[in-house]
Parts: sequence; structure tokens; C-alpha cells
Amino acid sequence: MNIRIRTLALLLLMGAAAAASIAHFGLYDIAATEQHTKPVYLLLDHAMRKSVSKRADGIAVPDLSGEPRIHNGLAHYRAHCLQCHGAPGVAPEPFSYGMTPAPASMVITAREWPPAELFWTVKHGIKMSGMPAWEYRLSDTEIWDVVAFVRRLPALSPQAYQQLSRQVPPLHASAEPAGLPGAPAKDALAAGPMPGDAEAGKRALQQHLCLTCHEIPGIVGQNAPVGPPLNGIAGRRYIGGVLPNTPENMVRWLQNPQQFDPLSAMPNLQLSEKDARDMAAFLYTLEDLD
Ligand code: HEC
Ligand code: HEC
Repeated sequence: MNIRIRTLALLLLMGAAAAASIAHFGLYDIAATEQHTKPVYLLLDHAMRKSVSKRADGIAVPDLSGEPRIHNGLAHYRAHCLQCHGAPGVAPEPFSYGMTPAPASMVITAREWPPAELFWTVKHGIKMSGMPAWEYRLSDTEIWDVVAFVRRLPALSPQAYQQLSRQVPPLHASAEPAGLPGAPAKDALAAGPMPGDAEAGKRALQQHLCLTCHEIPGIVGQNAPVGPPLNGIAGRRYIGGVLPNTPENMVRWLQNPQQFDPLSAMPNLQLSEKDARDMAAFLYTLEDLD
């Protein structure tokens, strides 16, 4: 082997070993009160920007003009984003001051980011940053409304923001429940005797805090044992110890555990019918792992 290649391989190995020791011995300070070192920050920020722009490539941008769109976007922004990102003349909530990375001012972001990238980021969120994904909370149309409003932000003085904000009623005044796109459609049960799409269910499950309370095979994360582990759930006779384990019952349990056990520690997570069906389909793939 060429000496250069050998040296390079050795250096790479040493680099990997150094990174592994930093991680293993707890040397990197994870405290949100300490900033990232500059190289780590630049690397993470660069990776984030590149990742977003690669994934947003090819998203078709609809017409974002028109006051109704901007008004609806403002209503959603005020309900879901203001707390962390603030608005002209409006500070975010105190909890957001303690976040690292600190949530960006949307005024700057709106100037610099193309609409497709804003859309992608709001829909999918940013791992390990505190930026939530809104895909399961807002419809695509609502996300585009938010993007339309964010694009308007740089042009708004605090007074203009207040004025516009006064024209827009709070979300709960509208007919649709806030943040629940596709929430329980009445005819959804007609969709067929059994749950939907297991892959979609796995994805939805990751987006509803299930693994903060359950150990779930195939889902990476906390897997905390607050509730029973969900492996082998397909073979269990009862759901939550109270309800015969049928697909239909599973869907209903996931949507509202208190309906069957008023004292259940499993919260009602406001699942849409579709998400509950997809999750049930996924859960029944967890057959015989114990
Ligand atoms: C719980 C706090 C929180 C909420 C709520 C939140 N965000 Fe974020 N957001 C963050 C954090 C933290 C980041 C990553 C740091 C940063 O801003 O770069 C971020 C990043 C972003 C980015 C990338 C901007 C950039 O310059 O890095 C956009 C765009 C964004 N958020 C839009 C929104 C919108 C629109 C909403 C409402 C639908 C929203 N966020 C709700 C915390 C939040
Ligand atoms: C805050 C904690 C918590 C969260 C979040 C949570 N669960 Fe539960 N879950 C429980 C507890 C506790 C039980 C046990 C039943 C009881 O106490 O009534 C349970 C029971 C269940 C059961 C029945 C298990 C059995 O062996 O009978 C299923 C299935 C289930 N949860 C699925 C889910 C799914 C899917 C999600 C996400 C959409 C979820 N859970 C979110 C706490 C939680």
C-alpha cells in the first residue's frame, strides 16, 4: 500500500476514534446554556441548509398572493409559530429564549429562503433543533398560507402587523378545528373493514409522541416504559386490559382511550381517523417479537 494512503487511513481512523471518545466520555457539552463551538455550529447550519434545499428542490410553488391566503396564514402563524419566532414588535414566549439553536427571526429568513424551502421546513421540521414538523397538524394548503404570510413579514412594521392582526379572527372562531387537518371524517369508516397503510402508520406514530411512553420495535428514540411495550400487540387478547383486540376496537382505542377506560393514563392525542387506521395497521405488523 502506498504510504500516503496508509497515512490518510490512519488519520481517518484517529479522527473517528477522537469523535467516538468525545461522544462516549461526555466531553461535548449538550447544555442549551452553552453555545455550540463555532466549527460545530457552522457544520450543523451548513448541513441543515443543504439538506433543506436538496429536499425542497422540485416542490411546485402555488400562487401565494391574495389577502385571504395571507390572512389565514397570519391566523396560523399567530397560533403556532409566534411563540418561538416572534413577529414585528412581538417577542416570542420566554421559553424560546432558552432554546439552542435559538429560533430565527422570520423577517430575515423570509428574505433569504425561497418559498419551497420555507414550505418544506414547516412541513417536515428540523431534527435536534426544536423546530416542529407541522405535517400532521396543518394541511399543505394551510402551510402554503403560512408561507405566504411569512413572505409578507419583512414588509410589515410593528404597527402594520398589529393592524393586519386585528383584522384576522383567532383560529378557533373558524368552522374547522385548529391544527387537525382531515380530522375524523364521518364517512371514513366506510373506507373498509380494516386499517390502512402500515408504512404511513409508522410515520404517523413517530409524529404523535407514542414512543415517549411505549417501547415500539422499529421506532428509534426514547422508547420509555410508561405504558406497555407494543411488540406482540397483534397477539394480545385485550387492548388496555379492557377492550377485545379487534382492528376496529384498536382504531377506536387509539382515538380515545378514555372512552373505554376513563382512568387510562394514555392521553387522547386527537388522532385523525386516517392516522389511527394507519397506526393500527402498523401495530398489527408487530406480531411475535417476544
Ligand atoms: C417550539 C418552538 C418553535 C415553533 C413553535 C416553531 N418553530 Fe420554527 N424553528 C424553531 C427552531 C429552534 C428552529 C431552528 C433554529 C433556526 O431558527 O435556525 C426553527 C427554524 C425554522 C425555520 C428555518 C429558519 C432558519 O432561518 O433557520 C423556519 C422557516 C421556521 N422555523 C418556521 C416556522 C413556522 C412557520 C412555524 C409555525 C408553523 C414555526 N417555525 C414554529 C423553533 C420553533
Ligand atoms: C403519556 C403516555 C402515553 C402516550 C403518549 C401514548 N400512550 Fe399508549 N398507553 C399508555 C398507557 C399508560 C397504556 C396502558 C393502558 C392504560 O393505562 O390505560 C397505553 C396503552 C396503549 C395500547 C394498548 C396496549 C396493551 O398492551 O393493551 C396501545 C395499542 C397504545 N397504548 C398505543 C399508543 C399509540 C399508537 C400512541 C401514539 C399515538 C400512544 N399509545 C401514546 C400511555 C401512553
